[in-house]
Amino acid sequence: MKIYISRKIPSEVLLHIGQSGLEVHYNDSETLPERSVFIRNCQQADLLLNVGMAQLDAGFMEACSNLKGIALTSVGYDHVDLEAAARNGIPVSNTPGVLSRTTAETAFLLMLATSRKAFFRAGEVQRGEWKKFGFLHELGIEISGKTLGIFGLGRIGIEMARMSRAAFGMDIIYHNRSRNLQGEKELRAVYVSFEELLERSDVLSVHTNLTPETRYMFNRNSFARMKPTAIFINTARGKVHREPDLIRALKDGLIWGAGLDVTDPEPMQPDNPLLQMPNVCVLPHIGSATIETRTAMAQMAADNLLAVYRGEKMPQEVG
Ligand code: DGY
Repeated sequence: MKIYISRKIPSEVLLHIGQSGLEVHYNDSETLPERSVFIRNCQQADLLLNVGMAQLDAGFMEACSNLKGIALTSVGYDHVDLEAAARNGIPVSNTPGVLSRTTAETAFLLMLATSRKAFFRAGEVQRGEWKKFGFLHELGIEISGKTLGIFGLGRIGIEMARMSRAAFGMDIIYHNRSRNLQGEKELRAVYVSFEELLERSDVLSVHTNLTPETRYMFNRNSFARMKPTAIFINTARGKVHREPDLIRALKDGLIWGAGLDVTDPEPMQPDNPLLQMPNVCVLPHIGSATIETRTAMAQMAADNLLAVYRGEKMPQEVG
C-alpha cells in the first residue's frame, strides 16, 4: 500500500511510518501543493495523512474514492465532508485528547493577555512608546475570583476550567448539549442556559465544534446580553462568532475585550480593525502548536492509517 503525507511531519513519526512497510510519498514541505496536484497525489495513494486543514469536500472524495483511509491531524473535522467520505467508503480519523491541554493553555494565554491588553502594551515597547508609568493608561481587568463561562465543557473546555480554577480560583459555569457530571463534581461547575452563560460570565471561553447549530452562535444579540466588562475568548473555530458583530460589539462597548486564536476567514487580513484595538489579542490558530503536541497528533494520525494497513478499524474513526 502507498501512503501520501501531504506536508512535513516530525522526523520520528516519518521514520515510524517508513519502518511499517508502507510505500511513502512524502511532501517534505510546510506548504501544501496546489489542489490539482494534491488530488493527483491522493489518486495515486491508498492512504492519506492530511497534514493541516486542507478542505476535503465532496468533489475531493469523488475524485479520490480510491483512498482506503484518511487521517486528519486535527480534532476538528468541519473541513471534511464526512457524508461524502462515507458514500465513497473512506474512513476518516481525527486526533482527540492529545491536544486538549495545549489548546486550553492557548485559551488561558489569551484570557490573561487580553485582560492586561498585553499584545498592545508589548507593541508600545517595540514602537518606543513606553510611557513612564502612566497611572491610568490602558489599564487591564483582574481575573482572580471572577466567573469563567465555558461554552462546550468537553475535553478542551474542562482543561481550561481546571487551569483557571487552580490558578485564579475562578467560579465555573458552563453550557453544553449535555451535562458534564465530572466537571460538576470536580470543579463545582454549574450548568446554565446559554442566556445565563452570556449574562453571568466575566470571561466567556468557546470550546465547541463548529456545527450548523453553533455557527454564528455569538452574534450581535449574544454580545448584547454579555457584561460590558466581559472578555470573549475563542480557540475553537472562527465561524462560531460572527466577526463583524464582534467588531461592532467591541466598538460599542457591549463587551470589554476579545482573545482569538481562530478567525473568519483565516488568515485574518492585516488591515482588520480588531488588530488596532488595545483590548484584543489575536493569534494565528496556534492552539495545538507545541513540539510535543504536534508530534503526538502526527503519531496518532499515523497509527490510524497503520491500523487500516493491517486491515483493522481506525481507533479514532469519526462520523
Ligand atoms: C484542531 O485540532 O481542530 C485544531 O484547531 C487544529 O490545530
